[in-house]
Amino acid sequence: MPQFPADKIKTIGIYTSGGDAPGMNAAIRAATRVALFHGLEVRGIVGGYPGMLSNEFMPLTQGSMGNILQRGGTILKTGRLPEFHQADVRAKAVANMRAAGIDALVCIGGDGSFTGAHLLFQEHKFPIVGLPGTIDNDIFGTDFTIGFDTAVNVALEAIDRIRDTAASHDRLFIVEVMGRDSGFIAVDVGVAGGAEEIFFPENSVTVDEAIDHIKRGMARGKKSSILIAAEGRKPGRAYDLAEAIRKKSGFDAKVCILGHIQRGGSPTAADRILASRLGAAAIETLRKGQCDCMVGVSGGQLTTVPFAQALGKKKAVGRELIELARVLSY
Ligand code: F6P
Repeated sequence: MPQFPADKIKTIGIYTSGGDAPGMNAAIRAATRVALFHGLEVRGIVGGYPGMLSNEFMPLTQGSMGNILQRGGTILKTGRLPEFHQADVRAKAVANMRAAGIDALVCIGGDGSFTGAHLLFQEHKFPIVGLPGTIDNDIFGTDFTIGFDTAVNVALEAIDRIRDTAASHDRLFIVEVMGRDSGFIAVDVGVAGGAEEIFFPENSVTVDEAIDHIKRGMARGKKSSILIAAEGRKPGRAYDLAEAIRKKSGFDAKVCILGHIQRGGSPTAADRILASRLGAAAIETLRKGQCDCMVGVSGGQLTTVPFAQALGKKKAVGRELIELARVLSY
């Protein structure tokens, strides 16, 4: 694990980056309060990487962390900054933070955010620890990411409602959930919601297979079905699937795209607890002089994984769950 002299740290900067995720505020709160508890000062960097460039640093205090635990989104705002791929942009960000007295960082975000964080340490020895915050749950080195549990529950509630109307009208529905490069949300929601078929980036279910599946159910007397599709790289792909199913089988599929509704709302208890544990662990990791790494959970226990080991690796959706979804809906 990369090391640095922890006694030099007086002020920690915290930022959220990439897509927001429910529970990010709980993580900001925990990291801030644990840092303050140990006599450190804390600055929030507004908007993530763009805020480093525009010098938007705000003091975070015990009081300013009140009444945010239960709120979705991120009080620090978030964003994506493609220019952060340029070394001169990163150097400017580091110069601004050093001038503002920030000595170390906590980054709450996903894979893309961690890539920038890793470079800040590699190029400038800026101590930094990452917290996995994304609804996609696709970060290697942690069993769960902050926001995933809430997103799954939001989608599940919607699917239960859709099932009522699908059953009343004997209809076929395709429900599109989020998940850019991975099917964690789709598979969890598919199993918990009793979906007939799940389309997700790592799986290659064909339209013909899905049609066979629906027909098999109809032969048993089933009159309504729900298919789940992860949006992948093409939000709205559920419409393409519906059209392909209609052309090949004549079945008329209704489409429901859940979209960003899955990113909003109050975090579940599981997300609040995970975020609180990880926020605290990030500060303890920095206090031990460890950095250039991510804190996560594995088998329920806190873990620390160097960015160099986690970045670029693909976390696989559990085969057992995929197989279970197949068998339960056969
Ligand atoms: O990575 C998180 C995520 O919510 C994905 O599930 C989704 O595909 C993507 O972000 C949407 O991004 P944006 O908010 O930029 O539309």
